Amino acid sequence: MASMKTGLRPALLAAVAVTMMALWNRPLVAQGAAGLYKAKCSACHGATGKGDTPMGKKMGLRDFASPEVQKISDGKLTAIIADGKGKMPSYKKSLKPEQIEELVRHVRLVATKEK
Ligand code: HEC
Repeated sequence: MASMKTGLRPALLAAVAVTMMALWNRPLVAQGAAGLYKAKCSACHGATGKGDTPMGKKMGLRDFASPEVQKISDGKLTAIIADGKGKMPSYKKSLKPEQIEELVRHVRLVATKEK
């Protein structure tokens, strides 16, 4: 009896932990990027990345879905978000590198959602 208890508990705990991580991680990461984008970027770039906000129009923003933006490499997009460019603010102080990476993926994602 005693040996069964001690043998089962760690296995059960591990299974619970793995399940919880799988359940928690995905929505959190996905929501993280979408939430971040909404909070920090959509005021200029618009909810769908079209740049069709009053601010975006004034700045002449390009649609994220446009070929000109989509042909920019991940590395360059990361650098633009981290360092800023022209009127685009720099985010390397307020965001973690992983968050910037997620935002790059989000920029690709909103572009594919357009069509
Ligand atoms: C104050 C308005 C503003 C905010 C807020 C803003 N951007 Fe920008 N963004 C710009 C402008 C202006 C450019 C164009 C820069 C240039 O080419 O001179 C730009 C360019 C970009 C580009 C490159 C695409 C292109 O057209 O060259 C990406 C990617 C981008 N922004 C992502 C983001 C993300 C992600 C956020 C949120 C973390 C964000 N931006 C927040 C104004 C903004």
